Formats: sequence, structure tokens, C-alpha cells
Amino acid sequence: MNHALSYHNGGEDLHRETLILGEGGVVCDRRLDTPINPPIYLSTSTCVDTLDELKQLHAEQGYSYIRTRNPNRNMLSELISYLEGGEQSLVFSSGMAAITTALTAFVKAGDHILSDDTLYGETMQFINDILPTYGVETTMVDFTDIEAVKAAIRPNTKAVYSEVVTNPTIKVIDVAAVAEVAHSVGARYIVDNTFTTSYAVKPLSLGADVVANSLTKFYNGHSDVCAGSVTGDEESVHIIWDRQKLVGGILDPFSAYMCQRGMRTLDARLALQNKNAVALAKALSECPYVEKVLHPSLDSHPQRAVAKKEFKDGVYGAMLSFYMPEDWAKINQFMERLRVPHYAMTLGGYRTSLSYPIISSHAGVPKEEREAIGITDGMMRVSVGMENTEDLVKDFLQALEVFKK
Ligand SMILES: Cc1ncc(COP(=O)(O)O)c(C=O)c1O
Repeated sequence: MNHALSYHNGGEDLHRETLILGEGGVVCDRRLDTPINPPIYLSTSTCVDTLDELKQLHAEQGYSYIRTRNPNRNMLSELISYLEGGEQSLVFSSGMAAITTALTAFVKAGDHILSDDTLYGETMQFINDILPTYGVETTMVDFTDIEAVKAAIRPNTKAVYSEVVTNPTIKVIDVAAVAEVAHSVGARYIVDNTFTTSYAVKPLSLGADVVANSLTKFYNGHSDVCAGSVTGDEESVHIIWDRQKLVGGILDPFSAYMCQRGMRTLDARLALQNKNAVALAKALSECPYVEKVLHPSLDSHPQRAVAKKEFKDGVYGAMLSFYMPEDWAKINQFMERLRVPHYAMTLGGYRTSLSYPIISSHAGVPKEEREAIGITDGMMRVSVGMENTEDLVKDFLQALEVFKK
């Protein structure tokens, strides 16, 4: 092994104050080109020795500056491109950075965005409250009603936006049908795949142009990183990259490394989580204290046929919602009795977690409005984890006994 000085013309005559800044900076070993696990590249820049080399670096689109490119981000992007089946990907500092950068990259003042009316709360806020202040027109309709989508599309619609499965109402969008409407006016269809991931659905293969993900959730899966991504064709991703460089919402190398590490086990985790979700949905739907369960594995689900068509066989996602009697005190007791799941302001981790939408994702939505879309005082959302199936189901059922009269 050869430890070289990082002074390209040698450093033998230099002094301690100088050498302390560069000594030990480079390790030469050909095996370091083939590590079993990629290292973390925490360097903000790479050094060049001449202007010719600098020109070459730019021509090759090499690693010149961390906001523009970084090896850990690129490695993670390649993995996501493979999983989502897209040509290229970009990774961001959060799911919201990915979504907002993609949306703003495709529209300017005078353009129109058409979106589903049930989206992650902050995405909804961005579309409804922020984009109009920049002169962008926005319309929201129920995307499960394809005639409503056709009626709302306009010649100036440049972006159409939805999630595959909505939060917390678990509506399933027919991505292929919406893509056809979007393309009839030349708009790009951006689909948020956070709830489902490519393990269950690949929106790009159904006609979407860009798929956005909050990697914070199932993709990373360990509840220890905040990150986001977009994946799509080369042209679309390049347009978003031009915006990302300026807006600056890039993912730091350490988080990119962590995220890639988490994603190595995506399929193994989601196989268990999906299996548990199917079992829990069935058990809850048979429980006398539960009024309704929303999960695409159930025949009672309003978009069951769409789910069967677009989801991988037998995989319906690990997110479900269920309705208990609207009794605050009893719901509190139910939560107190649970041993396995915990309440958390996130989803998609390896452990089962709960969310009570009326004081979390839909806290700011007036009661009549949220009730009109099915978000009542009795609704609980569950992100199903990897626990032993029997432990999980039994625990929910014993806790629900608090509703026994
Ligand atoms: C469906 C969906 N999309 C996007 C986001 C935003 O992701 P992040 O928190 O990583 O910005 C979330 C966050 O919960 C989400 O649930």
C-alpha cells in the first residue's frame, strides 16, 4: 500500500504548517476501486492541477462541486432508476424538495397544474397556496373520477400530479388512465409513489413521466434519514436537475449513503410488511368494533379492480386506514393498550406506526371538508411493519376490546 502526499509536485521541502493541511490525504490501493460497500464521499470538491484538466472535468460532467454532483448521490440515483424503471434519477434533501423542485421545473406563470384532490398535506399546501402566488393556475379534482380529470384538463396544463395511493383515504389512482389524459395536451404526469414504492407499482411503466418519492419512508425504511427522489426520462430529469442546482435541495453524502444502505433490503422488508398489511386488514375488517377498513387487498375497496390491475400480484402496499367509533376517550384507551405499534409522525419504517389524521396530516382542514372525503374523528391510519403477523394482529384485536359495551 502506498500513502502518497497530496501535493502533486512533491512536498519534501514544505513546512509543517503546510503539510498538516495535506499529509495523509490520499490512499493508493487498487482494491479501493472495488470496495464491497461504497464509501462515503464527504468531499465538497475535487482538485485539478491544470486548466486543461478543469476543462476536461466540465466536459465529462465530473465531480467538480458537491451541489452539482456527488458520488453517493449518483450511486443512490442509479439504484432508484433501476428500481423504478426510469432512465435517470435525482435525489433531494427531502420528499418535499423533490416534489416542489419537479413541479416548479415544469411550469411558469400562466401555466396550469391539474392535481388529485387528496394529496399529502404539504404538497397540497404548496400547490394551493404557493404556486398561485407565482401566477400558476391550479385545479384539484378527484382523480378516481376520470371524467372529472378529462373535464379539468386545459390546453395550458403543463403538469398533472397525483399519488398512486392517497393519504389517509387509501384511494387508488388509475395511473394509465390519467397519463392518457395528461398526454392528450402534452402535459407531464408526475406521480408520488411514496406509499407504494416500486415493490408494488411502477408508475413509469403505466405511462407516468416522472415518479417522485419521499425516500424518508419505505424506501429507506429505517426512520433515520430524510430524503427524496425523482425518476424519469433523460429530458425530464435534466430539466429538474437544472432547477435543483439553483434551488439547492440536494441530499448530503452521508444521508445518501444511509439511504442506499436502507434500500438494499427494500424488497425483503416490503414482502413482510405487505403480508402483514393483508392479514391486519382482514382481521380488522372482521372485528365487530371496527366500522370500516380501507386497504386495496379487500374486496370492499372502492378501487379494488384498479389495484388488481396495477399492483404487483398479491401486493397491495403496507398502508391502511380503519374506522373506530368516534369516541376520543376510547381511542385513547385503545392506543394505551397497544403493545406492538407506536404512534409516530412518519410512516414506512420497519415498525408498525399509527397516525390520527384529524390532528396530524389534516389538522388544518375544516371538519366538513375533511369529513366529505372520509376523514372522520374515528379514522386511524396504520403503516404496517415487519413484526410477527400473529403478534401484530392479536395486539390490535386485544386493544380494540376497549370498545366492548
Ligand atoms: C405521500 C407523501 N409524499 C411526500 C411526503 C414528503 O416527504 P418528506 O417528509 O420526505 O419531505 C410525504 C411525507 O410524509 C408523504 O407521505
